[in-house]
Amino acid sequence: MILTWNDVAEKFQKYFGQPPAWIVRAPGRVNLIGEHTDYNEGFVLPLAIDRAIWIALRPRQDRTVAVYSVDFQQQKEFSLEGLRACQDGWLEYLKGVAWVLQEEGFRLTGWEGVLVGDVPQAAGLSSSAALEMATARAFAAVSEIAWDPVRMALLGQRAENRWVGVQCGIMDQLVSAAGQAGHALLIDCRSLHTEPVPLPAGTAVVVLDTGTRRGLVDSAYNERRGQCERAAKAMGVRALRDVSVEQLEAAASRLDPLTFRRARHVVTENARTLEAAEAMRQGDKHRLGQLMNASHQSLRDDYEVSSDALNRMVELARSHPACYGARMTGAGFGGCAVALVDQAGADDFVRTVGPAYQQATGHQPALYVCQATQGAEARTGCQIG
Ligand code: GLA
Repeated sequence: MILTWNDVAEKFQKYFGQPPAWIVRAPGRVNLIGEHTDYNEGFVLPLAIDRAIWIALRPRQDRTVAVYSVDFQQQKEFSLEGLRACQDGWLEYLKGVAWVLQEEGFRLTGWEGVLVGDVPQAAGLSSSAALEMATARAFAAVSEIAWDPVRMALLGQRAENRWVGVQCGIMDQLVSAAGQAGHALLIDCRSLHTEPVPLPAGTAVVVLDTGTRRGLVDSAYNERRGQCERAAKAMGVRALRDVSVEQLEAAASRLDPLTFRRARHVVTENARTLEAAEAMRQGDKHRLGQLMNASHQSLRDDYEVSSDALNRMVELARSHPACYGARMTGAGFGGCAVALVDQAGADDFVRTVGPAYQQATGHQPALYVCQATQGAEARTGCQIG
C-alpha cells in the first residue's frame, strides 16, 4: 500500500497524541537509463517514484533527535552534541545527515517524530538516499534552513560516503531531492544541472523486483569505480565523461581488454542516455525502449553487473507485447529491473510477467507500476487534511 500525507499524520497522532508540526517525504527512485555513469561525471535519467520515506515530526527544546520507526518498531534517539558513528542500523543515516549539516555550519534544532516508508529496502530503489533526504528535509523544516535540492543532495551523498561508508555517486540523492512529477530528470553529474524530461504519453514505467538481493555489491561497485578511474587516467582525461566512442576505440591498445570493456560501457551509456532524453522530448517511446535494451546488454556483457535473475526478468518483460524495452536498474547484482510499457497493457504486463518469472526462477517477484513524483517535500501539520 502506498502511504499518503494523512496516513503519516495519523501515525504521529497515534504515537504522540497530537498532530505533527511537519510532515516530510523523500522519494525512492528508479533509473530509466544512465547506469554506473554518475561517478564518471556523466549523465543519468532517473525518476523519483511514488514510494517514499516519510517523517512526521515536531521540534524539541533540547538538542535531541528522537525517532520511532514504524517499520522496525524501534524507538531510538541521539544527541546533536558530540555525534559519533556506531553501528546503529537505520539511525546512522539520520546521524550522518545531522553530522554533515553541522559540519556545513548549520545550527540544528532537535526534534521528535515517527519514521515510516514504503520503499522496499536493499532492492536498488534508493531507500537509503530517500532516508537521507527525508532527514535533511526534516532538519531544514525545524531549523529554518532554506531547501536547496542540489546542495542537500551533495550533503546527503557526503553523509553516505563518509558516515555510512558507501562510495555512491550523486544520482540517488539528487533525484530524491529534485525530482519532478510526471518527468524523469536528466542529470549532468559534472555540472549537477538538471532538466526535467517528460515521460512519453501513453507509457507506464514498471519496476520489476526480482526478489533477489545484491550480495558483495559494495566491493564489486568499488572495483568498477577503480577500473573506470584507471581507464580515465590511461587516456589522460579527468573522467570517462570526457571520452567519445571514437576516442575510446582509438585508445584500445593502451587499455587491457577488461578495462576497455568497462570503459566502453560507460562511454556508450553516456551517449545512450543523451539520446534517450532526446527520444523522450520527441515522445519516441520505441527508441527509448531500444536504448534501454542496449543499456542492459552493455551492463550485462561489458560492465558485468547483471545477474541470472535480472537477465531472466528482463527477457520475460521483453517477451510481453506491451513492452517497449527493459533493463536492470541501479547498481546491479540483484534487486530490480525497469520496463517501459504501453499504458493500456500495463495491468496485463504485471499479471503475466510476475508469475512467469516466479515459475521460471522460484524467486518471489514484486512488480509495481510507478508514477514519477516530486522530489523531497515538506508540509506543515495545518496543510494536511
Ligand atoms: C547506486 C549508486 C548510484 C549509482 C548507481 C549505478 O545506486 O548509489 O550513485 O552509481 O548505483 O548507476
